[in-house]
Amino acid sequence: MTCGADGEQSCPQRGVAFWTSALQATLEHNNPSLGSICPSGVTKSAPIQRRCQRDVSALTVEVVHTGPNAMTKATSKFPTLTTKRLRLRRFERRDLADLHACFSDPVAMRYWNSPPCKTMADTERALAWLAKTTSPYDHLAWAACKKSNDRCIGMVNYHSRDARNRRLQLGYITLPKYQRNGFGTEAVRAVLNYCTDELNVHRVEAFMHPDNSPSLRLAEGLGFCCEGGPLLDYWRVGTKFVSVMIYALINKTDEQSGGAPRH
Ligand SMILES: CC(C)(COP(=O)(O)OP(=O)(O)OC[C@H]1O[C@@H](n2cnc3c(N)ncnc32)[C@H](O)[C@@H]1OP(=O)(O)O)[C@@H](O)C(=O)NCCC(=O)NCCS
Repeated sequence: MTCGADGEQSCPQRGVAFWTSALQATLEHNNPSLGSICPSGVTKSAPIQRRCQRDVSALTVEVVHTGPNAMTKATSKFPTLTTKRLRLRRFERRDLADLHACFSDPVAMRYWNSPPCKTMADTERALAWLAKTTSPYDHLAWAACKKSNDRCIGMVNYHSRDARNRRLQLGYITLPKYQRNGFGTEAVRAVLNYCTDELNVHRVEAFMHPDNSPSLRLAEGLGFCCEGGPLLDYWRVGTKFVSVMIYALINKTDEQSGGAPRH
């Protein structure tokens, strides 16, 4: 995403592909005629969005981490994050129905970098990959849940982490019925703060379709700046290629000398 995924860019040394890529591969393997199933793919040029110089220090921190070194033993302890209304936790099997409501929705998925899930089994495979992403090094996915009932209302992840250069990409989605309530911003802010505070990330990227106004607004609201685009035919979605804009947020609060990544 920067929608949620780009397995082809995940760390080759770790040999771990991001879930959507793997999901697509699985789907294609199971049914070659599907390719990567999706409609989408409306590719059109857009004027470059405004550029700005905001930085992450402007963000209001409302997340409570599980601990300063929560990721040191990340494989045994998932870094649950909390915000005012949300708890961001590891995906569990009970999230399947909620996740399917999201991943099967053609409107919610119209700017995603992989096609909507056609069946519950498709979503089940996606869920398995999301729950599996426990590595602190390459990618990690959180189920954004309402504190009141622990039901999943969205997903935020980071992926394509390049630890040496202290950068990664974010992906996010909110279940359609919960959109426009500030949940997306709240959840992404929590993960953003985790990435800068715990992983010592310097640069966070987000790739998005030029027509994806909600995502552009969310990113800009958190201080991301458009750096350019459209990057032509950047995503392969189903049988089409999609061009995207690149947004980034620089963490200017950390040392400029290029300190080492954590974890
Ligand atoms: C992008 C997305 C995660 C936003 O989630 P959300 O929970 O609605 O986010 P928020 O309520 O915090 O709103 C974020 C901004 O988007 C705006 N927004 C949300 N839905 C919108 C819509 N349908 N049309 C226009 N603006 C919209 C909000 O007004 C807000 O902007 P503002 O702060 O300037 O008012 C959600 O629209 C979504 O899941 N989209 C589909 C998946 C997707 O495309 N993800 C991004 C891939 S790059």
